[in-house]
Amino acid sequence: DKGGFKHFMAKEIAEQPTVLSGALSAYLDKDGISLPDPGLDFDKVERLVMVACGTAFYACLTAKYWFEQLAGIPVEVDIASEFRYREPPITKGTVALFVSQSGETADTLAALRYCAEKADKIVSVVNVPTSSIARESDLALPIHAGVEIGVASTKAFTCQLNVLLMLALEAAKSRGRMDSAEQAEVLETLRAMPGIFNVALQRGDAIRKAARQIAEARDVLFLGRGLMYPLALEGALKLKEISYIHAEAYASGELKHGPIALIDKTVPVVVMAPRDSLFDKTVSNMQEVMARGGKVCLITDAAGADAAGADVWQTIILPDVPEVLSPLLYALPAQLLAYHAADAKGTDVDQPRNLAKSVTVE
Ligand code: F6R
Repeated sequence: DKGGFKHFMAKEIAEQPTVLSGALSAYLDKDGISLPDPGLDFDKVERLVMVACGTAFYACLTAKYWFEQLAGIPVEVDIASEFRYREPPITKGTVALFVSQSGETADTLAALRYCAEKADKIVSVVNVPTSSIARESDLALPIHAGVEIGVASTKAFTCQLNVLLMLALEAAKSRGRMDSAEQAEVLETLRAMPGIFNVALQRGDAIRKAARQIAEARDVLFLGRGLMYPLALEGALKLKEISYIHAEAYASGELKHGPIALIDKTVPVVVMAPRDSLFDKTVSNMQEVMARGGKVCLITDAAGADAAGADVWQTIILPDVPEVLSPLLYALPAQLLAYHAADAKGTDVDQPRNLAKSVTVE
């Protein structure tokens, strides 16, 4: 049942405030974060290896910033199909973490089995608690996204981020890098996130307008820095998979190392940049794009929009959130841009060509 929406994907994007609110309450009680027992002994973790495919891989890339910056744990992130054939050494003190919506992705499952006898602990973050990946883990953490029907993952991504952030916050606390009061402050905004999602979704018109223009392009670039780099990758993946527009994402700082050669007035550049600690650097990359006639679609907050100046082609303004929480919020415009571009092109949004919801063959 599409609940009055034109596509399951539209419904699944729109239900994220409610879904996130449920997912949050599954991991929060009045005292803060509550993880299933026996949980993880974060003090003893020397290295975290995270493995996944596609959108779940981008959730891992985002979490790398969290685990490293908040908790000081060295993190490696890899694509399952690369990891499993490389025979990577898994040393003592390593926790291996697998993220999968379906819990049945063949490469991710094979990577998990490779780690099974080697890692201190196998943890998974899954949407299907009865799945193979969940069953073969020492600790399986459900994301509580509910059934996801659209082939392009949307609410599962935000719910994966939610669980990964909870883990990073717990790790930061148990490793003495964050005290209870600091954690409580982040949790307070996290609890408010469903409401902030609603505000962002109400700004869908600006996103639809930008998406209609983007739908005309043959190629689109996505740029982001820090926590926004994985979001740029996710935005590009969503756009190509459902609208069939060629889209690539780069870390903003990589622009001048190659991709800037592509810039001209026919290639829209989507820049994901809240006014955070890295904003000024991203603005200078954006100016390099505009100086070459490139059309910038800036996804930012009110302060970012003010600072960016008048030459920006399209601006999508989101509510202000603390930097650490920005990936959750910026997932929404990334999804909506792709959705509206695909809808404008009339593609089969829920069943894009050549794609399957669950990739159980390698
Ligand atoms: C993209 C998408 C895919 C999946 C990937 C992993 O929108 O849905 O990239 O994220 O196939 O699937 P799971 O999470 O089931 O392992």
